[in-house]
Amino acid sequence: EQRPTSLGCFVSWCSTAGCIKVLCQGITNRLNLLGSKEDHYLNMVKTYSNCTVVLENLEVTYMEAHRDLSFLRSIEEVGGYVLIALNTATRIPLENLHIIRGHSLYEGKFALSVLANYDKATGQGTKELLLNSLTEILKGGVKFGTHQLCNVETIHSLCKFKASKPCHSSCYNGSCWAPGSQNCQTYTKLNCAQQCSKRCKGPSPSDCCNEHCAAGCTGPRPTDCLACRDFQDDGVCKDSCPGLMRYEPNLHQLVPNPHGKYNFGATCVKKCPYNYVVTDHGACVRTCSGNTYEVDEGGVRKCAKCEGLCPKVCNGLGAGDLTRTLSINATNIDSFKNCTKINGNIALIKTSIHGDLYTKTPKMEPSQLDVFKTVKEITGYLWIQDWPESLNSLSPFENLEIIRGRTKRGSLSLVITQLRVNYLGLRSLKQIIDGDVIISNNQNLCYTSKTHWEMLFTSKSQIAKVEGNADTATCALSNNTCNRKCTTDGCWGPGPDMCFACRDFSRDRSCVDSCNILEGEPREAVRNETCLECHPECQRLNGTATCSAPGPANCTKCANVKDGLFCVSHCPQGVPRDDESLVWKYADELKVCQLCHKNCTQG
Ligand SMILES: *[C@@H]1O[C@H](CO)[C@@H](O)[C@H](O)[C@H]1NC(C)=O
Ligand SMILES: *[C@@H]1O[C@H](CO)[C@@H](O)[C@H](O)[C@H]1NC(C)=O
Ligand SMILES: *[C@@H]1O[C@H](CO)[C@@H](O)[C@H](O)[C@H]1NC(C)=O
Ligand SMILES: *[C@@H]1O[C@H](CO)[C@@H](O)[C@H](O)[C@H]1NC(C)=O
Repeated sequence: EQRPTSLGCFVSWCSTAGCIKVLCQGITNRLNLLGSKEDHYLNMVKTYSNCTVVLENLEVTYMEAHRDLSFLRSIEEVGGYVLIALNTATRIPLENLHIIRGHSLYEGKFALSVLANYDKATGQGTKELLLNSLTEILKGGVKFGTHQLCNVETIHSLCKFKASKPCHSSCYNGSCWAPGSQNCQTYTKLNCAQQCSKRCKGPSPSDCCNEHCAAGCTGPRPTDCLACRDFQDDGVCKDSCPGLMRYEPNLHQLVPNPHGKYNFGATCVKKCPYNYVVTDHGACVRTCSGNTYEVDEGGVRKCAKCEGLCPKVCNGLGAGDLTRTLSINATNIDSFKNCTKINGNIALIKTSIHGDLYTKTPKMEPSQLDVFKTVKEITGYLWIQDWPESLNSLSPFENLEIIRGRTKRGSLSLVITQLRVNYLGLRSLKQIIDGDVIISNNQNLCYTSKTHWEMLFTSKSQIAKVEGNADTATCALSNNTCNRKCTTDGCWGPGPDMCFACRDFSRDRSCVDSCNILEGEPREAVRNETCLECHPECQRLNGTATCSAPGPANCTKCANVKDGLFCVSHCPQGVPRDDESLVWKYADELKVCQLCHKNCTQG
């Protein structure tokens, strides 16, 4: 269990004997000085005091001769790199550091960098870098570019020091970190018996470390490692943390594993620490990346995959940088890239489209308006009183779902006036929460009516004024009428994908006469008058329905094999059942998965 401490560290590895490891974040500041040298020192004390495992980088910089650096003694593991630079402190006491993992590297290359720890002016410099326990660097190189420190040669990715004063006579091959028998450099790889696969604690075959150890060990078991190569789970080194999912033989499915753990650096934890989020492969991270965003799921902060674009809130007119801007124009339209929600208003007027000489605003290219295609929500109002001649609908707003009208112009939250468009094409618009609507004097506009707008309102006090547009008879004469696949409720424009509702069935936001039940590709099932694809594991059938609903449990027949209720591509092969055992199955002559005998270990 971990609990955050006042220093932002996390206590881990708690057992009946108490908590023995403190994890801390570390810093990535490189050679920058944080405030004064005093501030810099205090920040370093705060970051590393009592810390055993540094998750990111260990940076020891600008430490002056008189500073007490004993707070570095607790550090045993570093996940990223170690940078020791610009110090004049005589000794850097890192005697307990066993391993540098090198998950991030200094200058993209170095796991350990020791640079410029000498001040020419005063002649002060670092004389002893005590890395007595350092026996493993998993990734990255070592860089020593410094004056007063001893010479180094690279031996098996670790450096060998020739101290300025001679090493103690007992040191192996004459290498040490400082004078004295306690400061000999230790090797846990060079001097092992042939039988050892990786590290050892001495030259005899019984001194081999467990294969999951890094750095070295005190005995042969995976609990005797000085550090774990991959993951540490309750004091045991393992190649992975217990999985978050396990196979449930009765349900024939993967279900959450009550013994599952998350990866947190190189440690397995039951819960991610405070302020961390969980990725879908079960790692604790500080921010969601890629196409994911942070959500709360039953009290756990998780990274969820975004459906399409990740949500992005942008300032509209009247908010943030656009507080004083009255309309969208070619100068500010790029700030709406990838926005899904506009906090504020959108207004398009004559200068928006045609530009303005006085303020040197260029004219708008019609394609620039396509930035609004990602917008689903406008919290204020939408006001359009000019529009490019070449666009015959408001298609840039085709994904707009809701206008909240939290800010209005007078009582108005939607105004579309004096445009040449033939149809609106706002086919996703479902609600106008507050404010009145004016659709007026758009001489070519068909496909709209007052009742149509009233359906989008949420309160009786909202008013729609629809007047001065193309008249119904003219529209009908020129065939500007809703597609026959629409219900009589109406539509946003021509074609089967502009209907308010479908007369028969819908597929992918478009209306269709029928679904592909018995023929057509791909085969489908119907649910709520919507055509939904059968699961790819369903066998495609002729003359009968291929599935009764979406999902692998609803196939009429499986394309490959059946495990319980589900069609799957192959039977479970070594899927974890609980902490210890794996599930193996084979397909019988009916292509149904059956359990292998429990003594089978490979299927
Ligand atoms: C480090 O731990 C000791 C003992 O638990 C405690 O007394 C001390 O205050 C801690 N130091 C810091 C800076 O938290
Ligand atoms: C011992 O040191 C010498 C000289 O520094 C070097 O050539 C040799 O490879 C070292 N032996 C081992 C086993 O590291
Ligand atoms: C166009 O937008 C810019 C930036 O928001 C603004 O400074 C400028 O006044 C606007 N031009 C007009 C004519 O509104
Ligand atoms: C918009 O999203 C695309 C696709 O996710 C991405 O490649 C692009 O960098 C984003 N642009 C901006 C300005 O956010």
